[in-house]
Amino acid sequence: MLKGKSIVSIDDVETEDFYEIFHRASIFKKTVKEGKSLELMKGRIMSTFFFEPSTRTRLSFESAMNRLGGSVISVSEAKNSSAAKGETIADTIRMASSYSDIVVMRHPMEGAARVASEFSTVPVLNGGDGSGQHPTQTLLDLFTIWEKYGKIEDLEISLVGDLKYGRTVHSLIKALNRFNNKINLVSPEILQMPDHFLNTLKNRTKINLNSNIDEVLQTTDVFYVTRIQKERFVDLNDYQKVIGSYSFNQELVDRMKDNAIIMHPLPRVDEIDPKIDGNKRAYYFIEAANGVFVRMALIDLILRGGKVE
Ligand code: CP
Repeated sequence: MLKGKSIVSIDDVETEDFYEIFHRASIFKKTVKEGKSLELMKGRIMSTFFFEPSTRTRLSFESAMNRLGGSVISVSEAKNSSAAKGETIADTIRMASSYSDIVVMRHPMEGAARVASEFSTVPVLNGGDGSGQHPTQTLLDLFTIWEKYGKIEDLEISLVGDLKYGRTVHSLIKALNRFNNKINLVSPEILQMPDHFLNTLKNRTKINLNSNIDEVLQTTDVFYVTRIQKERFVDLNDYQKVIGSYSFNQELVDRMKDNAIIMHPLPRVDEIDPKIDGNKRAYYFIEAANGVFVRMALIDLILRGGKVE
């Protein structure tokens, strides 16, 4: 049951809730595509606090609330809020709770959303906390896989790129690991998934560490490619060593399974060649578009919870 809940980690979402979100997101996708309007959130307000840059998460949350008939109030940069004057997350969220029915927060500090949820009287959704987690991204990633394969289990999934700092893969591996999936971790050595994340996983037997992209190219069903997070490096010399580590181009795509898909939370830099955007395996823009429908489902389940026709 999601009603009234904050989503700070993907662990806050039960497995049965995944399927409820998928079904509701499918209904909303059809409704939006048919041009029908909804009033399920009439009179409800969402506040969004984005203290780190965002295109997809912020706009898709705001689009989702508007498409449900609700309203949005927004802080798009820390410098435009009283955080710039030294206000704490606790006080910011106390205010947001009294001005809105649900809060979405992105923050550069890992754990910021957890702090916010402790001081909020309304549900808080983590829109990304530093190198921590990005649970709502995971829900739209899972939905995209479910739409393609009709399941989120018994698949071979390769997580590629920056597995150290990439918060999307931290949430995603926790979700995928609940099911019988084979997971390959493909990254430069200095960007491997941190042990403190791997140690939280219940089922490590199907996780293939230190794999090489060529070794998994012909068996992978889902490639989940990530940007190397330049902004998180303490020493930019280390960044210089790993830029351009992976390039998903035509040559690579031609060696994949016919039915494989390529996902990416975006933004991309140079890890996916735009020349493959038209390839049938390129799913990253479908994935990003699904963000609106999945976030509509999540908002509706958290704030209302009833059935949808
Ligand atoms: N996927 C994602 O989090 O994108 P933004 O940084 O643009 O929100």
